[in-house]
Amino acid sequence: MKNKLNVQIRPALLADLDALVALEARTFAYSRMGRASFRRLLLSPTAHFHVATAVDGTLLGYYLLLTRSNSSRWRLYSLATSAEARGVGLGRALLEHALSYAREAGASALSLEVKSDNKAAIALYQSLDFAVVDLLLNYYDDDQHSDGYRMRRSL
Ligand SMILES: CC(C)(COP(=O)(O)OP(=O)(O)OC[C@H]1O[C@@H](n2cnc3c(N)ncnc32)[C@H](O)[C@@H]1OP(=O)(O)O)[C@@H](O)C(=O)NCCC(=O)NCCS
Repeated sequence: MKNKLNVQIRPALLADLDALVALEARTFAYSRMGRASFRRLLLSPTAHFHVATAVDGTLLGYYLLLTRSNSSRWRLYSLATSAEARGVGLGRALLEHALSYAREAGASALSLEVKSDNKAAIALYQSLDFAVVDLLLNYYDDDQHSDGYRMRRSL
């Protein structure tokens, strides 16, 4: 899929592994996924992984949805855009893609966890109708053991 950002959003491939690991290392100082986790998830039938790439193929972002057996409630496990590509609508485009993808695959709701001080992500989620449903005390593995929110929306 191409959009007005001239970015392609497509299913992730094993060939994206190096770029995903590099983006993750630049993006997250906490709860960061390592190479082995990315590889496992890229091959997992319960993980729905999409990447956003520029015209030259550069990886600009990704999202990862996880499904559970016997549940139509899916989880947005991760969403990130590269620092150089932020603030121009790519995070929103990825999240809208994830919502459509999950809805078309039969999901009834999408939940996620977000650090309680992650203003940009929370604003993005709220603008697409996610609401806080739980406070997760000491949820993150950073030095402060930061709190998180669980957010959810129906599809
Ligand atoms: C959160 C993240 C994905 C947003 O991506 P992005 O490409 O910058 O997002 P967009 O440009 O599409 O902006 C979408 C909305 O996010 C919110 N937003 C983005 N940057 C913001 C900022 N610096 N401050 C406040 N809100 C912000 C706004 O609501 C914005 O909508 P608007 O442009 O209509 O005001 C990106 O900042 C990121 O990858 N952060 C690091 C990883 C992360 O925290 N992921 C989420 C983990 S739960």
